[in-house]
Amino acid sequence: MDTKLLPASPENIQLAASLLRQGEVVGLPTETVYGLAANALDPDAVARIFAAKGRPQDNPLIVHIARIEQLEQLTHPPKLARKLADAFWPGPMTMVLPRRSVIPGCVAAGLDTVGIRMPSHPVAKAVIEAAGCPLAAPSANRSGSPSPTTAAHVLADMDGRIPLILDGGNCEVGVESTVILVLEDRVRLLRPGGITLSQLESICPVEMDEGVLHQIEPGQKVASPGMKYRHYAPSAKVVLVEGSAEEFASFMEAHQGEGVFAMVSREEADVLPCPTVPFGHRGDPASQAQELFSALRACDEKGAQTVYVRISGRKGIGLAIYNRLLRAAAFQVIRL
Ligand code: TXA
Ligand code: MG
Repeated sequence: MDTKLLPASPENIQLAASLLRQGEVVGLPTETVYGLAANALDPDAVARIFAAKGRPQDNPLIVHIARIEQLEQLTHPPKLARKLADAFWPGPMTMVLPRRSVIPGCVAAGLDTVGIRMPSHPVAKAVIEAAGCPLAAPSANRSGSPSPTTAAHVLADMDGRIPLILDGGNCEVGVESTVILVLEDRVRLLRPGGITLSQLESICPVEMDEGVLHQIEPGQKVASPGMKYRHYAPSAKVVLVEGSAEEFASFMEAHQGEGVFAMVSREEADVLPCPTVPFGHRGDPASQAQELFSALRACDEKGAQTVYVRISGRKGIGLAIYNRLLRAAAFQVIRL
């Protein structure tokens, strides 16, 4: 299959919508990461997403909507879900809710629930509106690879596998949406993301699922199937290092070698004694989130074999960065 990469112009948005109505899969930008979209109500179209991504069948997809009425049409939302939608939609929050039967079982990987989100990206919104159906869309990477935050990343993973990628530039948030299980009076955080823990806590109590920061043992029951899989990983071995910038500099001095890189903020990269892959700015986790996945991809482009990443905090969106890096590193952390 020939994969077209086209700017997200009004004509190309219409082209994407018509492909989606025919049951095809299209790569498109959202404010978090690029998605691999198909008609959420068409099981054959949804099957094409799983095939293009090489995704395990037991990992459910998020359904993207453009209008609040669709929340009621597709799920049974408790009152709290409406309150959260008012506060954070459109935006990077996915609510896991009891699913209505219009959502095919394959979207939800057989669960009774479905993850649903209203993205704020104008291109994502326009494509959902033009297609006239909700869109199931996982991140547009091959299963296991870092999520794509540019159209070029999508092309690298999906060339020959899907007919069209819409280019909407770099994603603003850079990490995926916050996934929460919504209960009557509280929520359970399943994946930290663009909406932070304290933003959620301004609306209701939040419990953090164990899988956010801890490795799932084989056979252990999981709240979110995505927690089980190794994720976000370049081919290079990733190791997290917790310590001050000064401690990290001495650590890197002692660990230099062929193919050994450090992944740190631009400011810290300048003073390190080894090759580096910089991401974002020191003390600015939002900029680090934006560049996290392209930095992980750059590790492979530069031929890194081992990448030491300094962890500088878990506040705000820093929790999402830490959660992704933990998985990229298969939970290997060195504390200095
Ligand atoms: O920002 C995002 O959420 C992006 C953009 C494209 O919207 N999408 C995304 O989808 O990250 P994906 O498929 O890469 O990640 C969805 C995560 C997975 O970890 C999955 O297991 C979890 O959400 N999930 C989906 N439906 C669920 C459900 N019913 N119950 C529990 N977890 C669910
Ligand atoms: Mg993903």
